[in-house]
Amino acid sequence: MDNILILDCGSQFTQLIARRVREQKVHSEILPWDTAFEVIQAAGPKGVIISGGPQSVTDEDAPSVPDALFTMGVPILGVCYGMQLMTKQMGGSITSGTSREYGRTAIFTDGRSPLFTGKVPASFEAWMSHGDRIERLPDGFRCTAKTGNGVFAAMEHETRPLYGLQFHPEVVHTQYGSEILSNFLFAICSCTPDWDLGNWIDQTVEGIRRQVGTDRVVCGLSGGVDSSVAAVLTEKAIGDRLDCIFVNHGLLRLHEEHHVLEQYKRLNLRVHYVDASDAFLGALRGVTDPERKRKIIGETFIRVFESEARKIDGAKWLLQGTLYPDVIESGHKGKGASVIKSHHNVGGLPEHMDLALLEPLRDLFKDEVRGTGRMLNIPEDIISRQPFPGPGLAVRCLGEVTSERLETLRSADAIFREEIAKWEDYPSIWQAFVVLLPVRTVGVMGDSRTYSETAVLRAVHSHDGMTADWVHVPYDILDRTARRICNEVQGINRVTLDVTGKPPATIEWE
Ligand code: XMP
Repeated sequence: MDNILILDCGSQFTQLIARRVREQKVHSEILPWDTAFEVIQAAGPKGVIISGGPQSVTDEDAPSVPDALFTMGVPILGVCYGMQLMTKQMGGSITSGTSREYGRTAIFTDGRSPLFTGKVPASFEAWMSHGDRIERLPDGFRCTAKTGNGVFAAMEHETRPLYGLQFHPEVVHTQYGSEILSNFLFAICSCTPDWDLGNWIDQTVEGIRRQVGTDRVVCGLSGGVDSSVAAVLTEKAIGDRLDCIFVNHGLLRLHEEHHVLEQYKRLNLRVHYVDASDAFLGALRGVTDPERKRKIIGETFIRVFESEARKIDGAKWLLQGTLYPDVIESGHKGKGASVIKSHHNVGGLPEHMDLALLEPLRDLFKDEVRGTGRMLNIPEDIISRQPFPGPGLAVRCLGEVTSERLETLRSADAIFREEIAKWEDYPSIWQAFVVLLPVRTVGVMGDSRTYSETAVLRAVHSHDGMTADWVHVPYDILDRTARRICNEVQGINRVTLDVTGKPPATIEWE
């Protein structure tokens, strides 16, 4: 199978490049910028893309790539920072700009580059985001496109397969971006479009069979798409030697456990259901600090899971729905990454259980997991289910988590989700939910004074949860939701709307 390597210089768009390549049915893999040349060579890529990055190539500690890359004979495409890095390492010059060129920019090509052949017109709009500019191209390179201000927008080497784009072909705001990438993959790298999920399923099922042999496997199910797809795939491979454990931590949404169990039954999975609500609520008593809540839930989960897994005789493997972004992120750990929240996956690894890890989805992006799930006939409600945090409603029930307050939050949340689901734009929403604040305000109902807590409606658009915009929910939906919550839910007399994006806020409140 042909492979494109993407060297990650820290851009928020690196994973997007990898996905865009896979959308064209070419397998892609991300490696950090400081990967040794021998490793790159051993991977035998058909082409290499150097990603963008937040730094200036003139910074002292700026990422760089091995010089040998540029003479290895494999086509190289530098994107944004990648193009500037290629310029610098090949002997051209860069000046640090005082102003950033940011946003949509008109590009004018010379019509000669193989990157701009086919459907790509002589001029189009592209997404730029850079502070530095290329002053002089390195020897042997020519400019193949400019912006209206005369900035070098694309370059290529006269004789070697080296290409640079100052704009981002991977973002949707760049017109003809996928045609440009397709030209790189097929016209320049001569890739065969043979990355196919159907084949991947067959090979993976066979791989699981080989890896597991005659052993038994245990799996923690969360109701979400990743663990469900991992379980169904494994069941296909080893049948009833898979045992699934579904821990109800008492922090699920209204009727969620019944719904999820019903669906697993239809999927033919053997599920051991554990209602550990009391243990979790007991451990959370009196706790209000968000990080402590997360830690307590993580630890309690592992304890409950372990004790259930011990009952399964002869289990040797722990199945996890780890995805490619998790693999990349844990590989890049420590490089300027700051911990915003401790995200543990519930279903997280019990460390001292002596089980080997089985991670069949570790090559896939989320959209590919969904595609796989559809091919495996997993119901659409599971596949398109909105993400739900491992610690559940605990991080949406601000202040102390008690069963009464959870009850209030569940009812309000169910109303908001029911109302917003009627909206035609609902399927495009990443998450919609209610947060309960431990803030009491004065209200009036009938003839009496109330003094109750506050609900916050939160709905966001996002592509991957890393950034988000708040959803402009129509007023009539907000109005109906607010009236219904105040009328039908005990304990809330005020409803507000969260109009903050991420950044500066995060999607969840804790
Ligand atoms: P934040 O709140 O950090 O969330 O903007 C980004 C996305 O991650 C989800 N989230 C979690 N998912 N375990 C998870 O599996 C967690 O502990 C967790 N915390 C947040 C959140 O719902 C959003 O989609």
